[in-house]
Amino acid sequence: MKNVALLISGGGSNMVALARDMTGDHPGRPKLVLSNVPQAGGLLKASALRIPTAVVDHRDHVGRLSFEDAINAELTAAKIDVICLAGFMRILTSEFTHRWQGRMLNIHPSLLPKYKGLHTHARALEAGDTEHGASVHLVTGDLDDGPVLGQARLSVRADDSAASLAERLLPLEHRLYPAVLRRFLTDDPTPVLIDARD
Ligand code: GAR
Repeated sequence: MKNVALLISGGGSNMVALARDMTGDHPGRPKLVLSNVPQAGGLLKASALRIPTAVVDHRDHVGRLSFEDAINAELTAAKIDVICLAGFMRILTSEFTHRWQGRMLNIHPSLLPKYKGLHTHARALEAGDTEHGASVHLVTGDLDDGPVLGQARLSVRADDSAASLAERLLPLEHRLYPAVLRRFLTDDPTPVLIDARD
């Protein structure tokens, strides 16, 4: 059984989807929800699910290395094997990504390699894309890079806004990320592909 940490910065809906899936024959268990934002809504949701929580506020640290040392201390104390970044909105140093290389996943709301970084929905609309989606990938030293383990895709509709795209994509993320984590923890290299195009 693998001990999984879920790192969040906000509402934590992906965290909830992952945590809820980790029961029964699932090879992982949610052992820690860690947020860099003290008021992140996901912390209350984690407590309701009886998952231990921790806050490491980046504003309490001078420099990323001190911030990440504090995160690593929490991860070590909880005996974490695998990290799922689930709406964690801080850029991690290469020291941290190297330390967790091969053991850290991220969900990103675009069809990678398209639209690394922020404002992915608006950028897909601006580009006139007919399809959009989300990707789960292994985290490497480069932002929103690393091998893609699964993708969910949907059609962009004529009347879509960035907000409507985000709203329609989120439930697909909640299917995608747990499916990828299950395969990842059982060493199943088959990519997860969810096609929700119209
Ligand atoms: C999700 O849409 C996730 O893909 C995105 O943040 C949202 C978090 O929602 N992640 C990123 O943008 C990472 N760069 P949640 O807190 O409800 O899971």
